[in-house]
Amino acid sequence: MNTQDAVKDLRALSRLINTSIDQIENEMLSRGQTYPLLSEPYSPETEEPRMAPDILAAGSIITAAAAQLIASVSIPVVSALVTSLQYEVSSSLRAAIQAHVPEILREFGNKGLHVRDIAAHTKVDPSRLGFNWETLPPQSTVVDVGSGIGSMSLELAEAFPHLNFVLQDTPATLANAMNFWSMELPEAINTDRVVLQAHDFFEAQPVKQPSVFLMRMILHDWSDDKAVNILRHLCVAAGPETQLVIVDKILSYACTEDSFVGDIPGAVVERLPPSPLLPNFGYAAVSWYLADLMLNCHNGTERTLVQFRQILEDSGWKITNVHRSEDNFSKITAAPAHLVPRNLTSELLAKL
Ligand SMILES: C[S@@+](CC[C@H](N)C(=O)[O-])C[C@H]1O[C@@H](n2cnc3c(N)ncnc32)[C@H](O)[C@@H]1O
Repeated sequence: MNTQDAVKDLRALSRLINTSIDQIENEMLSRGQTYPLLSEPYSPETEEPRMAPDILAAGSIITAAAAQLIASVSIPVVSALVTSLQYEVSSSLRAAIQAHVPEILREFGNKGLHVRDIAAHTKVDPSRLGFNWETLPPQSTVVDVGSGIGSMSLELAEAFPHLNFVLQDTPATLANAMNFWSMELPEAINTDRVVLQAHDFFEAQPVKQPSVFLMRMILHDWSDDKAVNILRHLCVAAGPETQLVIVDKILSYACTEDSFVGDIPGAVVERLPPSPLLPNFGYAAVSWYLADLMLNCHNGTERTLVQFRQILEDSGWKITNVHRSEDNFSKITAAPAHLVPRNLTSELLAKL
């Protein structure tokens, strides 16, 4: 079996889908029937054309071929993740049934209803470009907040020799970071170009006015109030030139987002998938939504850009740029909206 065989299989699967769709179309025309639309609510009457044995058989071929196509083109690790997280779907269905979401939605037909309004009915908590490193001035300090062993900082340190780094994490993680850097880039440790600093990001930030506060895969571990707390500490320590760079997944809505975030540079998705696929790539992006459900069980959450904007505004930051990646982490750059966050009173500051 070589690559050509694999491509032949993909084409054979795609042909099966197309010929079965042709068959459904011809039968519907000759019978004067309409195949049910995904966007229409279910009813026994609209389902009837699909229930004819030959139409069901064509549907089975499309389902099998589409599933095999998906399995053939998916990254195996992502397939394993999606399979292992399927239990989240059944728990979510149970939660939706217990909160009477189908009954609430039925009233609104295919217009749908914002999650906020569903929550209002159910009284359920609704919250349940790359960055241009090259242009930072020489000797700029990048503070990697919750750095882990510092794998992102290592890539940056290798690519941009004019930058210095402070890695902040728990003492136990920094012990691993020390081993990692001693093997990968010992001269950075020996010359203090990279400094390891034990720091709890719920406490006042010790590095004042750095060029960049970098946070990769941090905020999705925390609820909004905790995330705002972390971000406020950074805002209090920021100077007028400090930039915050958040590297995290930005969850997309299943509808276009221009009307919500069109004012933010880079926020509008330029390459939408071809119609009739959903703007969020539907099932191809399902692993992110399952990961979100998993994080929700631990008070964490993946966030949409609207949600990121909210926690940033609440902590004194203003988004200056967004670089979206549909299949990986995106980057959000923000600047201090004011040197002291607007809604930060002296009592709040004292508590930080
Ligand atoms: C998902 S990892 C991300 C690590 C790193 N940023 C990366 O992208 O590889 C989250 C990190 O946050 C650190 N962390 C958790 N709570 C922390 C706290 N209160 N203060 C500082 N770091 C913390 C963990 O030790 C862990 O290294």
